[in-house]
Amino acid sequence: MEIYLDNAATTKVFPSIKEKLPIWLDDFFANPNSLYPPAQKAKQEIEKARLYLSEILNVQPENIVFTSGATESNNTILKGFMEKTDRKEILISPIEHKSVLNPAKYLAKKGYKITYLKVNKNGLIDLEDLKQKLSKNVALAAVIYANNETGVIQDVKSIKKLLNEFDVPLFSDTAQAVFKTEVPFEYMDFFCGSGHKFNALRGIGFFVKKRDIEPLIHGGGQEEGFRSGTQNTAGILSIHEAGRIWTENQKEYHTHLKNLQSIFEKNLKEKIPEIKIVSENVERLPNISLVIFPKVDAQSMVVALGQRGIYVSSGSACSSGTPTPSHVLLSYGYSPEEALRAVRFSFGVENTEEEILQAVDTVVDIFKTLYEFV
Ligand SMILES: Cc1ncc(COP(=O)(O)O)c(C=O)c1O
Repeated sequence: MEIYLDNAATTKVFPSIKEKLPIWLDDFFANPNSLYPPAQKAKQEIEKARLYLSEILNVQPENIVFTSGATESNNTILKGFMEKTDRKEILISPIEHKSVLNPAKYLAKKGYKITYLKVNKNGLIDLEDLKQKLSKNVALAAVIYANNETGVIQDVKSIKKLLNEFDVPLFSDTAQAVFKTEVPFEYMDFFCGSGHKFNALRGIGFFVKKRDIEPLIHGGGQEEGFRSGTQNTAGILSIHEAGRIWTENQKEYHTHLKNLQSIFEKNLKEKIPEIKIVSENVERLPNISLVIFPKVDAQSMVVALGQRGIYVSSGSACSSGTPTPSHVLLSYGYSPEEALRAVRFSFGVENTEEEILQAVDTVVDIFKTLYEFV
């Protein structure tokens, strides 16, 4: 038995994409930038995908730029916008994904001022703090829309209202949110998406820019000069196909995910009442539950669950052999010790209620065994 509950890390490709992929590779093999008929056919498919996406995201098609994913998109937005403005300060939430935090650190080395915003215990941006930090020196504010560890959704409407007073654009990393929930894109000047987070292929993504930026990658001038390099036609078509499936089934998928999340949290709480579900009572994505277990560390849980065929993640990073607590939970005000006990369960549209119940039983079983040894 295998139950995949790590859909915030990556999703399984939709079956229709697997079926169509060999056909796309044959039919649209040509370089879309060439001038003969097969190339133009590929180009037309790319433009159809861009147009479809622009209607769903409610933006101009020419403002969508296809990239290799959200990491590239986020780097391009941050570095590319800062090159176009005279203002030198970036306001940034401390709960961003590393693909936003690290380009910001890079910009700090280049002389830009990076100011971190405060978040409260529920993971929401402190609006009073934001208000105080705003000035006419601020070029850009980066606030992730839905956090990848906790699923917490920010009040971008209120944030944007404050930013407007100083004409500061809002960059919101929407990599986890696109298609999983209704996103108010109208408040965002820059945002991004990544195919593999919504059942399309990996290595394809996009960003939307409503203000001018300098490209990160210079070359042959593809994507209107904003992202050079021969386009990944099959990847772009997979985004079109996955986007269509999510959009056509939006209501059903959102209800299904919400239902799985509720069943998971309710049943787990009944069996282990001492758990803490992070930001349980604030608006969250329907597919992420971050659980802090008593006493037992997350790494042990994740490894033991993996051995029993249940695949989940911990919020902590482990590149050196010693786990480091998640910067997101530390920013929320959790202690390092609590943060190291946080396990992320993230659901996908193909998960079933039976799988969730089975996963809960296994989690409880493993938790009890581990708990006895600590
Ligand atoms: C919020 C967020 N931003 C950016 C990324 C990076 O996405 P990609 O894998 O497409 O580079 C991720 C993926 O982990 C994410 O969750």
